[in-house]
Amino acid sequence: MSIMKYALPVLAIAGSALAQQCASPTTTIQNAGDASQLSGCPTYSGDIVIATGTSDNLDFGDLGSIDGSFTAVNVTQITQITANSLTSITQSFDLEQLTILATLNFPKLGSVGQLKWITLPALQGLNFGDPGLELATDVQISDTQLGSLDGINLMSVNTISIQENRYLNDIGIQLRHINTSLTLLGNGNNLNVSLPNLENAFNLTFINVSSIDFPALQSTNGSLIIQGSEMPTVSAPNITYINQSLTLNNNEKLTNVSMPQLIQIGGGFTFAHNPEYMNMNGFPNLKTIKGAVDVNGNFTNVTLPSLSDVEGAFNLQSTKDIDDDCSTFKNQAGQNSAIKGKFTCAGSQTNPGGAGTSPSAGSSSSATGAATALDISSGAVYGLTGVLAAMIGLF
Ligand SMILES: *[C@@H]1O[C@H](CO)[C@@H](O)[C@H](O)[C@H]1NC(C)=O
Ligand SMILES: *[C@@H]1O[C@H](CO)[C@@H](O)[C@H](O)[C@H]1NC(C)=O
Ligand SMILES: *[C@@H]1O[C@H](CO)[C@@H](O)[C@H](O)[C@H]1NC(C)=O
Ligand SMILES: *[C@@H]1O[C@H](CO)[C@@H](O)[C@H](O)[C@H]1NC(C)=O
Ligand SMILES: *[C@@H]1O[C@H](CO)[C@@H](O)[C@H](O)[C@H]1NC(C)=O
Ligand SMILES: *[C@@H]1O[C@H](CO)[C@@H](O)[C@H](O)[C@H]1NC(C)=O
Ligand SMILES: *[C@@H]1O[C@H](CO)[C@@H](O)[C@H](O)[C@H]1NC(C)=O
Ligand SMILES: *[C@@H]1O[C@H](CO)[C@@H](O)[C@H](O)[C@H]1NC(C)=O
Ligand SMILES: *[C@@H]1O[C@H](CO)[C@@H](O)[C@H](O)[C@H]1NC(C)=O
Ligand SMILES: *[C@@H]1O[C@H](CO)[C@@H](O)[C@H](O)[C@H]1NC(C)=O
Ligand SMILES: *[C@@H]1O[C@H](CO)[C@@H](O)[C@H](O)[C@H]1NC(C)=O
Repeated sequence: MSIMKYALPVLAIAGSALAQQCASPTTTIQNAGDASQLSGCPTYSGDIVIATGTSDNLDFGDLGSIDGSFTAVNVTQITQITANSLTSITQSFDLEQLTILATLNFPKLGSVGQLKWITLPALQGLNFGDPGLELATDVQISDTQLGSLDGINLMSVNTISIQENRYLNDIGIQLRHINTSLTLLGNGNNLNVSLPNLENAFNLTFINVSSIDFPALQSTNGSLIIQGSEMPTVSAPNITYINQSLTLNNNEKLTNVSMPQLIQIGGGFTFAHNPEYMNMNGFPNLKTIKGAVDVNGNFTNVTLPSLSDVEGAFNLQSTKDIDDDCSTFKNQAGQNSAIKGKFTCAGSQTNPGGAGTSPSAGSSSSATGAATALDISSGAVYGLTGVLAAMIGLF
């Protein structure tokens, strides 16, 4: 009893000091001492902000979790941040413009709210443990020197955006489902993307990648975009629904697109500036395109054998002779037919254009004839005279 009597006030003081130190709307860290002060906190409640002038290595010791955010923006003299016991940050983990930050030791960090790392030009690796970061609602990593994302092993996520990380040549994501979006843009010159388990995402955007492996992908609620990329083949063997648009643009080496099970594109289908692509035959089951078709290139053959419903405009133009394929599509055009919108189909174009462009003079037709006869609404197709139609090679 007597021990309690004397010990109580001491504990109370220690407790309240700890409580004050471990709970505050914002704690600003300016040096190593400030960081070590938080070492005793099993949980720190509030936001931790690293002051811009901080240059010490920071070690948060035994700090267990942060019920709030951790922010370091424009701290240009810091090189190392260590938090060996930290398991979670409930809100954002925001590191931006840390010019010489080279080491992040967070071996137990498993869960954060939003991870936002932007402009960390000296960060080459992560010292995250095993299993690593498993929970993050959103991940944005841009402009770092990271060569891999080892240590980030998400089990669920809304958005992932990985951009302009010039040394990143390998991204593997094990997720089955991405709630909102995955965006990859401008990373390493030879970026191989492996999504072995991904079945569904809302939006998928791949810009400047060298290969994509997504064998299990079944659907996107939104769009699939592949642009400015180097791979010869895009193969999505299991995809059945793309519920908004499909865009394949500016892929220099693309020769083969294979989506054998694709049934529906819920928005537009845009295909342009894929100069090596000759034979569009990879969509044997594509029935419905709810938006517009806007396809141009150096095709010799374009076949969409299952097409039964295009609700928007249809524009297909090629540098090569595609008269046979054009006449097949033309037979499907009309308000009560498969292709309901404005119909344009032309081969032998010197400059095959996108939607809204009129075909120029083809090899076998005059400029006026081609432009007038081909770039017309589908309803008017039936108004063509036999002579004019024959002259421009529709039949
Ligand atoms: C970064 O911090 C320095 C002071 O350390 C300040 O002069 C500069 O304006 C800040 N830059 C930005 C972009 O906030
Ligand atoms: C993703 O969506 C699922 C199902 O709606 C939900 O349970 C999960 O919490 C979401 N993930 C995140 C990171 O919000
Ligand atoms: C990317 O994949 C290609 C073909 O599979 C391979 O040759 C190349 O070495 C891979 N690159 C990297 C960085 O893994
Ligand atoms: C999906 O991408 C489309 C554009 O392609 C955009 O309009 C839409 O807002 C995106 N939706 C989500 C949930 O990211
Ligand atoms: C493709 O989808 C089917 C279900 O539609 C599934 O049984 C199969 O395992 C999937 N293939 C891959 C490689 O995931
Ligand atoms: C996207 O599609 C998946 C699979 O059909 C579904 O589980 C999910 O709820 C959809 N997401 C939205 C936002 O509609
Ligand atoms: C795509 O649309 C189809 C019907 O149009 C619907 O059955 C399916 O659930 C949708 N899938 C996704 C992933 O949004
Ligand atoms: C990246 O993609 C963009 C958009 O398609 C393209 O303009 C750019 O040339 C590509 N960059 C490289 C290095 O391929
Ligand atoms: C296109 O790619 C698919 C999937 O990889 C493959 O099965 C098919 O043989 C390829 N087609 C050509 C003409 O190379
Ligand atoms: C056709 O091929 C040439 C030569 O590769 C290329 O310069 C041109 O951009 C291509 N045209 C289209 C519309 O893809
Ligand atoms: C492409 O079309 C031409 C002319 O219609 C035809 O002779 C040829 O067999 C087709 N090539 C392929 C690979 O389908």
